Amino acid sequence: MGNVKSLGEFIVERQDDFKYAKGELSRLLSAIGLAARVVNREVNKAGLMEDILGDAGADNVQGEAQKKLDVYANDEFIRALKDRGEVCGLASEENEGVIEFKSGYSVDGQYVVAIDPLDGSSNIDVNVSIGTIFSIYRRTSKSGPATFEDFMQKGVEQVAAGYVIYGSSTMMVYTTGNGVNGFTLDPSIGAFFLSHPDMKIPENGKIYSINEGNYVHFPEGVKQYIKYCQVEDPSTSRPYTSRYIGSLVADFHRNLIKGGVYIYPTTTSSPNGKLRLLYEANPMAFLIEQAGGVATNGYDRILDIQPTSLHQRTPLFVGSKNMVKKAMDFMAEHSPKGK
Ligand code: AHG
Ligand code: MN
Ligand code: MN
Repeated sequence: MGNVKSLGEFIVERQDDFKYAKGELSRLLSAIGLAARVVNREVNKAGLMEDILGDAGADNVQGEAQKKLDVYANDEFIRALKDRGEVCGLASEENEGVIEFKSGYSVDGQYVVAIDPLDGSSNIDVNVSIGTIFSIYRRTSKSGPATFEDFMQKGVEQVAAGYVIYGSSTMMVYTTGNGVNGFTLDPSIGAFFLSHPDMKIPENGKIYSINEGNYVHFPEGVKQYIKYCQVEDPSTSRPYTSRYIGSLVADFHRNLIKGGVYIYPTTTSSPNGKLRLLYEANPMAFLIEQAGGVATNGYDRILDIQPTSLHQRTPLFVGSKNMVKKAMDFMAEHSPKGK
């Protein structure tokens, strides 16, 4: 197959970049790749499966209706990561507390994983792109199953992060802190191949992505930035284009490739924003910085935020460097911090 490189080959080839025990993180990333392929199979036939579509009949910890595919994906990632010896515990959007993995090995797993197993779940039933987001840390506790404290690490401590997008094609995009690489699934043989090496986000873009239906509830700085995006100014390619899918993974992926800014700010009903720090904002922030972009909460770098709870929320401004900075200028001027 010429120069085509599989995800497995790439992981092994790059494992020397990694400063800790080489094989473990590689095996962990491979396990995520495997679970992603299993979830992909179910996502692809979701329209055929009456028992897959629709509500699972329970609410998740956020009180949102859990979809069957959310539950399925959560179970699949847990199954793929437990009992293998690399991971000692998981924090998932779908589980209130830490999921502890008790290892049967002499050395307990050295990693913890925070995961949004199915992101964009409101798009499942309408055949629109959805995703999985994951974030990997070294444990801070010594041994045994993971503890709550293992997850209370700033985003800068992530050793790897990435997402899977179940879109018109399925891709896995990840970083271990040495750039961002994207792999496309060849469904005919069930393997990911390197398709987007060393991804970089353009410093300037023409796309802004925000749920404008919430406009009336946005901070003044965001309202003013949206107006700025809509003003005609050929020298800065304005007016920009508005694109919002409602799946963070899909909106992020498009903006990563084309250039753009994604904003989920505070609103009057969600004073801390909607997105979750541990398994949405932090992994995307790590990826975007590795791709040359910026991620903040409107004022401060996402990766420097000290978490205090598993499901904590944060506003998110993420994307092309100059676009995020411009939006932050509007925040500083019209919605100064702490006011
Ligand atoms: P999830 O499906 O994991 O709960 O995440 C949904 C998130 C994110 O994917 C998306 O960007 C955002 O919610 C959309 O929210 P709005 O519908 O409020 O725009
Ligand atoms: Mn999500
Ligand atoms: Mn989710």
